[in-house]
Amino acid sequence: MAFWSRRRSIDAMLAPHDGPALKKTLSWPHLMALGVGAIVGTGILTLIGVGAGLAGPAVMISFALAGLVCACAALAYAELSTMMPAAGSAYTYSYAVLGEMIAWIVGWSLILEYSLVVSAVAVGWSGYAVGFMNGLGWVLPEALTVGPHVAGGIVNLPAVAIIAVVTGLLLLGTRESATLNAILVVIKIVALIGFVAIALPAFDKAHFTPFMPNGFGAPFVQTGVMAAAAIIFFAFYGFDAISTAAEETKNPGRDLSIGIVGSMLVCTALYLVVAAAAIGARPVESFAASPEPLALILRELGQGTAAQWLAASAVIALPTVLLAFLFGQSRIFLGMARDGLLPRRLAKVSARGVPAVVTIFTAVVVAALAGVMRLDELASLANAGTLAAFFAVGLSLIVLRVRDPNRPRVFKAPLWWLVGAICMIGCVVFFLSLQTRTQFWFLVWNGIGLVVYLGWSAWNSRLAKGEEQAG
Ligand code: ALA
Repeated sequence: MAFWSRRRSIDAMLAPHDGPALKKTLSWPHLMALGVGAIVGTGILTLIGVGAGLAGPAVMISFALAGLVCACAALAYAELSTMMPAAGSAYTYSYAVLGEMIAWIVGWSLILEYSLVVSAVAVGWSGYAVGFMNGLGWVLPEALTVGPHVAGGIVNLPAVAIIAVVTGLLLLGTRESATLNAILVVIKIVALIGFVAIALPAFDKAHFTPFMPNGFGAPFVQTGVMAAAAIIFFAFYGFDAISTAAEETKNPGRDLSIGIVGSMLVCTALYLVVAAAAIGARPVESFAASPEPLALILRELGQGTAAQWLAASAVIALPTVLLAFLFGQSRIFLGMARDGLLPRRLAKVSARGVPAVVTIFTAVVVAALAGVMRLDELASLANAGTLAAFFAVGLSLIVLRVRDPNRPRVFKAPLWWLVGAICMIGCVVFFLSLQTRTQFWFLVWNGIGLVVYLGWSAWNSRLAKGEEQAG
């Protein structure tokens, strides 16, 4: 078999491996908290403004489209992650179904996704944190709160600081972090429900006309409903971080299905209500460019105290997203290193069961990016990586159903061919609706990845060295 198309065998993958083992400490409430904790974040709190600026009130349609594509991806993830409960997520599934080279591209794209989500969310956190501190009269010099892309900006220090704190939490161990995560998730949900309760009485349907000022959009048209959907997509993912914890779940069959599908449904419903309440309360133009749009809306409604509470909740609870993605990132590395595609010393797990070297290395890189880059650019590039991974997951679902229909499936996606097709087509259309610059940098990143793969990984993988039988 050609090296690029050699596949890992699913059966071998399920057999115990001789690498360092992760502790099985998680069950579905932890996973659902991990999911909702990873999903609800900067997307709904901040990028809602960017999306509304691109699509106008029709950003509601963008939310629905992004939700549909992510729901299909979530179903595909649920089926595949329960068949292959191994750390590594889309990368692992692609390795078993689509072959080593595509798995490499997916893994390399996931590294982009997980890293840049951490940077983007830290920048979003900084927006609310700075607003909150201003409300208390603690004003930091502007040069230290925004990157050099803003006149007078030097570095976004709060964004760097929050990444340092979350990294420390992760190094303390999965279990402690997951429990704290569950408490913070509740705070975040209560804050969003509170926002809706205050904004809804001010609902004015006049704010919904004109509904679609910039049109629907099309591939390569970088405004309108589709362009907004391509960025709003950011708000919906995170459930895939759950599948990276598969190896640490007690009962993968039940826990993963409930965790992935459940957290996706809860978040979609919540977002549609928040978006409708926000647009109904204030005209889109008034909050589109704000670094803290939901707090701004509350202040404009004369609810300054509620705005402070919302900002405080964001400050306390947004780090759950950072936690989940930093956690997921180290697991992707771990999976790739264990398979020999990245240097194996990266797979070293500390006495607390945490891959410390990888976690610290990732944190340093993402903190540097968060310090100097723009939120929408970070989020778009993270989306590009995620779209590549989701595309591969949709394709893997279909290919495996056709190739191996009788393999036991703990969770079966309904209408698998439709679910797989919507997932794949949606990912392509969203990718083509991203900014041209984002598409360019995504290709550059994967170009570098292919050089690493062909120059090193293809010769050093476990399959290449015959340490594992190909499937
Ligand atoms: N869905 C996550 C967020 O919106 C990445 O912050």
